[in-house]
Amino acid sequence: CGIVGYVGDKKSLEVLVGGLRRLEYRGYDSAGVAVIDDDGHLGTAKKSGKLVKLTDELAASPIADGRAGIGHTRWATHGGPTDVNAHPHLGDDGKLALIHNGIIENFSELKNELLAEGYSFDSETDTEVAAVLLGREYRATGDLRAAFRNVVSRLDGAFTLLALHRDEPNLVVGARRNSPLVIGLGDGENFLGSDVAAFVQYTRTAMAVGQDQIVAITPDSVVVTDFAGAPVEVETFEVEWDAEAADKGGWSSFMAKEVAEQPDAVANTLRGRIVGDAVVVPELAAFGDDVLAGIRRIVIIACGTAAYAGMTAQYAIEKWARVPVTVELSHEFRYRDPVISDDTLVISISQSGETMDTLMAVKYAREAGARVISVCNTQGATIPRESDAVVYTHAGPEVAVASTKAFVAQITALYLFGLHLARVRGTLSEAEQAEQVGELTAIPAKIATVLESSATIAQLAHWMADTRAVLFLGRHVGFPIAMEGALKLKELAYIHAEGFAAGELKHGPIALIEPGQPVFVVVPSPRGSATLHPKVVSNIQEIRARGARVIAIAEQGDVAVLPFADEVVRIPLAGALFEPLLAVVPLQIFAMELSIAKGLDVDQPRNLAKSVTVE
Ligand code: G6P
Repeated sequence: CGIVGYVGDKKSLEVLVGGLRRLEYRGYDSAGVAVIDDDGHLGTAKKSGKLVKLTDELAASPIADGRAGIGHTRWATHGGPTDVNAHPHLGDDGKLALIHNGIIENFSELKNELLAEGYSFDSETDTEVAAVLLGREYRATGDLRAAFRNVVSRLDGAFTLLALHRDEPNLVVGARRNSPLVIGLGDGENFLGSDVAAFVQYTRTAMAVGQDQIVAITPDSVVVTDFAGAPVEVETFEVEWDAEAADKGGWSSFMAKEVAEQPDAVANTLRGRIVGDAVVVPELAAFGDDVLAGIRRIVIIACGTAAYAGMTAQYAIEKWARVPVTVELSHEFRYRDPVISDDTLVISISQSGETMDTLMAVKYAREAGARVISVCNTQGATIPRESDAVVYTHAGPEVAVASTKAFVAQITALYLFGLHLARVRGTLSEAEQAEQVGELTAIPAKIATVLESSATIAQLAHWMADTRAVLFLGRHVGFPIAMEGALKLKELAYIHAEGFAAGELKHGPIALIEPGQPVFVVVPSPRGSATLHPKVVSNIQEIRARGARVIAIAEQGDVAVLPFADEVVRIPLAGALFEPLLAVVPLQIFAMELSIAKGLDVDQPRNLAKSVTVE
């Protein structure tokens, strides 16, 4: 869900709707705005469905437009995605408007309190309870800042709240707990957003609101306090993304653009972290080398695509740094009473830096004594703020819900981490380190080569538009890639897809093979994986003999697969651990093209959100 706030000389509606459009990638099912005009009228509009429904509504029945406003895109939690349940919600007899992301856990208790006092509600939402409560407090105090403080200190759960009141027309107040909020600093105007994409078109100077903090913006001032009202210092930062980077820039979809940006995503993530032939990640200086040398165990936590990046890196980090690495889904890790000690290093991976499951797991791990490094793609996000150190992936804004360039950037960042750790621990010789560094720096150009086969893969996808199920096989680092390929297909084309470890085939999945069943096989290199390559080729023969239609992702020059594969997609030669960065690309393109062939929304698949900020 997305949040935008504005005070200044511009027409607020334009800023709000533009901001919401840039936040569309977060996923939503309704949208709304509230604006105060120069005469102190408060106008609101809200509609279920996509943003265009709201803009149509605004065109049909225009509302007040002026100096202050708030805008919201909602992803339904309490109450279905209806017009009534959409935000903003009103309080104080329609004089104030409030929007909210997150979940107010004690809302029914508060609602009962307000009902007992004679207040009534139009919607089923927890948000309206906060709006009505704010109305009550405003009547008691006559001061929006004070009323807002009284409200937030009563709320439990996760929330970003923004509110405005027509009697204080130059003011927007905001608060956050466990849910993101950033401030954009302008000249005679100021902005709020759930992330910097909301306002990067207007300003690149930003501040992140901290946990349990309140912000009040007017055209000329920004004041951040704690929930009790005591001022707090907040540092500003410059946003690296420009507005154009968050735009489609001529591509048919954000996903097509982001797939094509993968060479840059890797190159930018490498930048500044390689010194000569060695990897030195400056952000890891947050830990002394003695701390890194003393680590006995690494636990990687993540969800979705990020978890597959973690699984891929597990092979590399263990091999290079000789530390046991496990990978767990954040939501499983958090609730199973895991063994954690101060020599456990937890690495969280999250593109958005806002995934609630991962955030909760990070907090839990730190409370249990672990050190936490986060790998994240979004500046000012919550998970980095809750971690001991951050290694940013510099993939640029990822807008399409299905992750692509962030995935290759995550693997790159984790490989850099693995090589940094190996250097500190002395587990790789200088020559071995130099070889891996050479492999990494060659990846961007090799991904560019893979992208040249896009048209062939598109054709394959269009031929297969009626396919009902697809299987993916891989082994070693090809295994997480098989699972990522399957995830992409589920997300984008709504096709039943499963990724299996090729060695597991004979233990069950082979029963699924029937004539015509498409199976993608990520084939390890015959040079890099001399022992595994023939085993995977045997697997291909086994499924082929049962009628499978085999699409092999194999390195250039691998002729052993030719007699058994119906299609071969070639990837350039790379070291065994680096093949995932290449092999995943055709699978992404396949899923994207199949989605297009089926006439689906590539960037915003049904039921999914880019940033899942609820547990
Ligand atoms: C959602 C998205 C996935 C993504 C996952 C983790 O479920 O639909 O595509 O991989 O969240 O997101 P994160 O921002 O934590 O990397």
